[in-house]
Amino acid sequence: MAEALIETSAMSKVFGSGKTQFEALKSIDLVINKGEFVALEGPSGSGKSTLLSIIGLLDVQSNGEYSLAGHPVHTLSAYQRASLRNQHVGWIFQNFNLVNDMTVVENVMLPLRYHPSINKHQYKERAMKALTQVEIADKADNYPTQLSGGQQQRVAIARALVTNPSLILADEPTGNLDSVTAEQILAVLESLHEQGSTILIVTHDAKVAARCKRRLQLRDGQWSA
Ligand SMILES: Nc1ncnc2c1ncn2[C@@H]1O[C@H](COP(=O)(O)OP(=O)(O)OP(=O)(O)O)[C@@H](O)[C@H]1O
Ligand SMILES: [Mg+2]
Repeated sequence: MAEALIETSAMSKVFGSGKTQFEALKSIDLVINKGEFVALEGPSGSGKSTLLSIIGLLDVQSNGEYSLAGHPVHTLSAYQRASLRNQHVGWIFQNFNLVNDMTVVENVMLPLRYHPSINKHQYKERAMKALTQVEIADKADNYPTQLSGGQQQRVAIARALVTNPSLILADEPTGNLDSVTAEQILAVLESLHEQGSTILIVTHDAKVAARCKRRLQLRDGQWSA
């Protein structure tokens, strides 16, 4: 039977208070099972990044329930949440978010520092393996600014992968790339999906969404029919 990785029930997010109070998410019910490849679509301001931040444990919901891999998130301390995040979630961003004064391989090694179970002596080997997986190992000793956008995004994917996360979250991963490069990045994500990764992609691009196995549509903080 399919095993739920993400489970939310009547989950909402309210920003601010008083006159400026704004409900960015309204009573969201969502189940994503292990191994799913899902697109999250919706107009600007509909709550996509807000939902992704909560799912990826960078933010906390205001009301309702959220469990990641069976852990009810609202019962956890900030420290426990961070540790759950390091263990389960790999992030990919539109603007790559690489550290420019570190080499490619150093960037990919970074998340391993927060994994107490991984031995320091294995950092480089694991980072090189992740870079090989996304076919950018030949740039290991370059700096991010010496790479094209598509190459930087491959490095960012390697960094998301290096800890073997249960969940890969991508916020507009092809938003800054030309269509040919976007296609290549999508192929990388598809191959990760075929190897069993659970992937949730925020996208404005219907072509990207069409390649995912399931499409979710947000409108004004709610699922739109
Ligand atoms: N920290 C915050 N404080 C107040 N309001 C916020 C905050 N973050 C987001 N919002 C509001 O919540 C709504 C949803 O924002 P969100 O960033 O999730 O949209 P989005 O769907 O990702 O849009 P885009 O496609 O433009 O990235 C917006 O109206 C935004 O102004
Ligand atoms: Mg957004």
